[in-house]
Amino acid sequence: MSIEQLAETALAMVAPGKGIIAIDESTGTIAKRFAGVGIENTEENRRAYRELLLSTPKLNEYISGAILFDETIRQKTKDGVPFAKFMADNGMIPGIKVDKGTHALAGFPGELVTEGLDGLRARLEEYYKLGARFAKWRAVINIGDDVPSGTCIEANAHALARYAALCQEQGLVPMVEPEVLMDGNHDIETCYEVTEVTLRALFDALYNQNVALEGTILKASMVLPGKDCDEQASVDEVAEATLMCLKSAVPAILPGIVFLSGGQSDDDATAHLDAMNRLGPNPWPLSFSYGRAMQSAALKLWSQDLAGNYGAAQATVYERAKANGLAALGQWTRG
Ligand code: 13P
Repeated sequence: MSIEQLAETALAMVAPGKGIIAIDESTGTIAKRFAGVGIENTEENRRAYRELLLSTPKLNEYISGAILFDETIRQKTKDGVPFAKFMADNGMIPGIKVDKGTHALAGFPGELVTEGLDGLRARLEEYYKLGARFAKWRAVINIGDDVPSGTCIEANAHALARYAALCQEQGLVPMVEPEVLMDGNHDIETCYEVTEVTLRALFDALYNQNVALEGTILKASMVLPGKDCDEQASVDEVAEATLMCLKSAVPAILPGIVFLSGGQSDDDATAHLDAMNRLGPNPWPLSFSYGRAMQSAALKLWSQDLAGNYGAAQATVYERAKANGLAALGQWTRG
């Protein structure tokens, strides 16, 4: 796989006015989402739910690709078409979550490191054959008393870079995701400092592992005060802090940055993205790779009447995609 082909995929992922829908919840995470709305966590319900999302009419107007889970990339539509083929036939790029989740970082209580490097080369080879053209690995950085440690940041950056190098070797664009969590009562300045040091460590590690940035996408968390912080920030404060942080730590050669929603409300996630794009021109396209902020409304509606609300649930997915697609251009208007 040439760097040119990886770069082409990466640019298509962040094509103007388009972003990613993250539907790669692990079986444990989707169990929590389903439990929240009273849906039984069976393989068929998980399949049917992902089909509802992916087959939303005209989704490809605003969605360039979707991140699938290992189970999902092996599943088919009710008409027997593998999801990855269904997506490609409908102009969307299949992606795949390849990390094996977070685990306690030995020696550093309260901190996490993402696992999944063992056997990754063979798994990536298989995912490519199944149709995936990009992959995602999520590292999690907590903010708290004396946390994060430098060791936690380094361990996660190293794993992200090893994963990214393996992805490019196997023809997949790595989406590198170092998520600084919103949990806690820290202020926006603390989030800024932690995000900046995390991004610097990540790009240092990517450089050390010979990862071609032209064929890499960053999935970033926004710079926000903690959920329990007394002093919440305005949309413009979040947009300005996030942009300043990214400009100080992310090389301009990167083809694009997509954001996670991380527990923000649907409207906040859209408003923040829109405000950042209005502040442009920026060095990179800024778009979205939202999970909850793309799906929550649809999941709630569907759960109330699986058959009766199918179309209405898809309509909310389309609305969320459209709002975020417009925000990726700085052209969204509230309400
Ligand atoms: P949220 O947008 O719900 O944070 O999920 C995005 C994601 O894929 C996290 O890895």
